[in-house]
Amino acid sequence: MPFAWADLPRPIRALAPMEDVTDTVFRRIVARCGRPDVFFTEFIHTDIVLALRPDRPGLTPRLRFTPEERPLIAQIWGANPEHYRLAALRLRELGFDGIDINMGCPVRKIRKKGACAALILNPSLAADLIEAAKSAELPVSVKTRVGFSHVQTEEWIGHLLGQGIDALTVHVRTAEQESEGCADWEQIRTVVALRDAVALRTVILGNGDVRSTDQITDYVHRYAADGVMVGRGVFEDPYLFSTDGRAGRFPTASASGRVDLLESHLQLYRETWGEERNYEILKKFYKIYLTGFNGAEELREQLNATHDYTAAEEVIGAWRTGR
Ligand SMILES: Cc1cc2nc3c(=O)[nH]c(=O)nc-3n(C[C@H](O)[C@H](O)[C@H](O)COP(=O)(O)O)c2cc1C
Repeated sequence: MPFAWADLPRPIRALAPMEDVTDTVFRRIVARCGRPDVFFTEFIHTDIVLALRPDRPGLTPRLRFTPEERPLIAQIWGANPEHYRLAALRLRELGFDGIDINMGCPVRKIRKKGACAALILNPSLAADLIEAAKSAELPVSVKTRVGFSHVQTEEWIGHLLGQGIDALTVHVRTAEQESEGCADWEQIRTVVALRDAVALRTVILGNGDVRSTDQITDYVHRYAADGVMVGRGVFEDPYLFSTDGRAGRFPTASASGRVDLLESHLQLYRETWGEERNYEILKKFYKIYLTGFNGAEELREQLNATHDYTAAEEVIGAWRTGR
């Protein structure tokens, strides 16, 4: 059966796309801790998708996935409609379940190219990109923010809802806010009311500062979204999506529980990427897993001083024997 947003169970719980975090390895770690209902790739430029050629079969790391991570939505960015059309066709061939367009990344270098959050200021190009992405006949969704420099939910989100998209994720901050200040979930009420008025088939996900299963339930109830997308919350609790009683326990997990999860991650990363993806990217996860127990900081420092997998395994081995 082809993937359809409308068929997902409610509330829909999505793992957010996060660059250098939600690769095939971390998506599998999260899936094993507790599956979300849908996964996203890290954002990838349309031209990188188009650079894949039959005579160069190696897929860029951002497009690598296994069946364990499905349904999986490929998130793309760029500003050229024809490239969106071609990239969408290619992503369909590669087996992705849907295409998401990044209209929210506020990074200046990217905005300057007229892409991502800059599209909030260029609604007609945003509409052309959506239309072009639809040519592969995969579900097309958009992830965006409530405005650029100020909240413009009615005008911007109203415009997007007029484009016949299958799903819309709204990070309830403006682009200029980046990750600062509180996420304004009240905006989701407005988004849902707009959807109910003009685009009943579009699934609405709210995003921003959600940290627990209880918060997902509470927010969906309170703001009437179809679901919630969670990003940084899984750093505090990789089991956040679990429905078998493990959610919520990780913040007080024992040292060995944390180190075991880190080691599974390290092993899967090594097995998957070897030398292909930079070992240094993995260090970001040391901070996530190694916190909240005696000796966490020291172990983290030792691991941060390593530059390859073997040295990291040795540090972990020595920590275990020294306990
Ligand atoms: C390290 C990191 C990388 C991110 N990369 C992406 C990305 O590739 N695409 C995207 O749409 N958003 C990206 N985001 C934004 C998140 O998807 C999400 O919208 C944001 O973190 C707010 O949600 P949260 O409070 O649940 O983390 C990234 C966020 C972080 C922290």
